[in-house]
Amino acid sequence: MKQVADSETKEILKIARESLALPGDFVELGCYEGDTSLLFAELLRETGSDKKLWIYDSFEGLPAKTSEDESAAGENFQEGVLAVTKREVKLRFLRAGLPVPIIKKAWFKDLTAADLPETIALAFLDGDLYQSIKESLALVEDKMAEGGVIVVHDYNNPELPGVTKAVDEWLIKKPFKLVQKDSLAIIKLV
Ligand SMILES: C[S@@+](CC[C@H](N)C(=O)[O-])C[C@H]1O[C@@H](n2cnc3c(N)ncnc32)[C@H](O)[C@@H]1O
Repeated sequence: MKQVADSETKEILKIARESLALPGDFVELGCYEGDTSLLFAELLRETGSDKKLWIYDSFEGLPAKTSEDESAAGENFQEGVLAVTKREVKLRFLRAGLPVPIIKKAWFKDLTAADLPETIALAFLDGDLYQSIKESLALVEDKMAEGGVIVVHDYNNPELPGVTKAVDEWLIKKPFKLVQKDSLAIIKLV
């Protein structure tokens, strides 16, 4: 099932296109079935870019919510939902005739700097929950290229209050600036 609205996808792809000029690779933490990953791969192929795409997921669905995720609006997003296999995602790339990205199956908390590229031009963070976004931000923050962009999905989504909380808490302590809100937090190094 589609997780990212068409209007959001359009905005994400616009940012991805702009990020092609920057050093570094594209990263997606929380790829699920790979809908957005496929679009990133298509963009890289269409433009002849030598950037690599790195995508990550537990492939076991969401972890448990923490108190920060509690919301009257959101009884969805329970532990274990959004599970898909790594193989299914890989097959989607093969069927589309696109290069298979670097796909890592892991809980974000178990990833280290060595699991990510040296430099990141664009990081798309779509882990839905407070801890997942907090862990994703910690993984990418020191790797962003100058001018690199972090896009966080579900910012200001009342069903997923943990996303906004994780981003806002992190922004207080880091030299990054939020340049756009609504459902996408677009964050740049300042
Ligand atoms: C909303 S879906 C991602 C949708 C995808 N970005 C897209 O464009 O279609 C969220 C994904 O994040 C993964 N996820 C959330 N928290 C995670 C964590 N802490 N570690 C690993 N994967 C996680 C879930 O397994 C799920 O597949």
